[in-house]
Amino acid sequence: MAGRAVEFGEEDEAALGEEGVVVFGEVELVEGGDVGVVEGRGFEGVGGGGNLDGKEDEEGGGDCLEKIAGGRGGCLRGGPHLMQHGRTMNQINLQNRTAVVTGGARGIGRAIVERVLEWGASVAIWDLDLAVAEEARVALAGLGRVMAVEVDVTELGSVSRAVAATVAEMGKIDILVNNAGIAGANATVWQTDPAEWKRVVDINLNGAFHCCHEVVPEMLRTGYGRIVNIASIAGKEGNPNAAHYSASKAGVVALTKSLGKELAQKGVIVNCVTPAVIETDILKQLEAYHVEYMLSKIPMGRFGKTTEAAALVAWLCSEDCSFTTGAVFDLSGGRATY
Ligand SMILES: NC(=O)c1ccc[n+]([C@@H]2O[C@H](COP(=O)([O-])OP(=O)(O)OC[C@H]3O[C@@H](n4cnc5c(N)ncnc54)[C@H](O)[C@@H]3O)[C@@H](O)[C@H]2O)c1
Repeated sequence: MAGRAVEFGEEDEAALGEEGVVVFGEVELVEGGDVGVVEGRGFEGVGGGGNLDGKEDEEGGGDCLEKIAGGRGGCLRGGPHLMQHGRTMNQINLQNRTAVVTGGARGIGRAIVERVLEWGASVAIWDLDLAVAEEARVALAGLGRVMAVEVDVTELGSVSRAVAATVAEMGKIDILVNNAGIAGANATVWQTDPAEWKRVVDINLNGAFHCCHEVVPEMLRTGYGRIVNIASIAGKEGNPNAAHYSASKAGVVALTKSLGKELAQKGVIVNCVTPAVIETDILKQLEAYHVEYMLSKIPMGRFGKTTEAAALVAWLCSEDCSFTTGAVFDLSGGRATY
């Protein structure tokens, strides 16, 4: 049966034929118009075929893209997602790598989990909220090997037990994404409850330290590692009414720079990202005026998406990132000027 495979970049808006099939690996067209993935990743447009630019086609509703069963990875839903974030444009190989993502149950962490699974890594979701971590594990299990571990990053013993459980199950840890974090309550410095200050610093900064402390020896054992710390633009600039958060994230930037130098000749690379506002549940912790303030600082005039954060982080987790360590990567829609 006739059908056509379209390599990405061959045409922007492809006439996909009846099947509406877009492929990014080798595919085999089988009788009846069904598509089976032989190798690589693939997508099947449904409901009249999807436009690659993500706009609804004239038939309406035709831009939904479904992952082909058995195919590894790929954008699960939504044309705009596919094109805007270019999730299928880069094929980075994380096969045989094991990743830990703290705070991986939701938000940015979950998007990172999804992306590195798609690229072939096995993943341990470490989160305080085991119920949501379990939900994520079940939802993402079709993409690859994934486990959920209950961990409180503020407790060294909890992190140590999580390392043991992960290594017992997965054999090693190649990638650590220190993502678990909270925003804390908005207030001026002099109105901030000292207990709240300590809570924010404990999770955001001490948590990242605890995870590095326990995971780095594992990476030194194998001689390979990629660590990505999720800091914040607040850590570079200092947001008013969020000094605890800003200070904790500035600490994460400095932790990244120090650890990067310590490990520079040991096969372990350490970098951090400094997002501006990314649309997640964390915004619910903040006052509306503060979210408005942060949005007003972004030249692109919009929130970032979790998938946009995940795309950069996942690259930093890969072997392609090889001559950059102790560095800070911007993710701010143009807000960062240094
Ligand atoms: N969303 C943003 O605008 C934004 C901007 C800059 C930086 N960041 C940073 O990105 C990271 C992820 O943020 P998000 O927006 O996805 O947040 P989120 O609230 O959606 O998710 C955070 C996750 O961390 C987990 N967590 C909290 N405390 C923990 C602990 N003690 N131990 C283990 N897990 C814990 C939570 O259960 C949750 O699943 C955070 O470090 C945050 O500071 C977010």
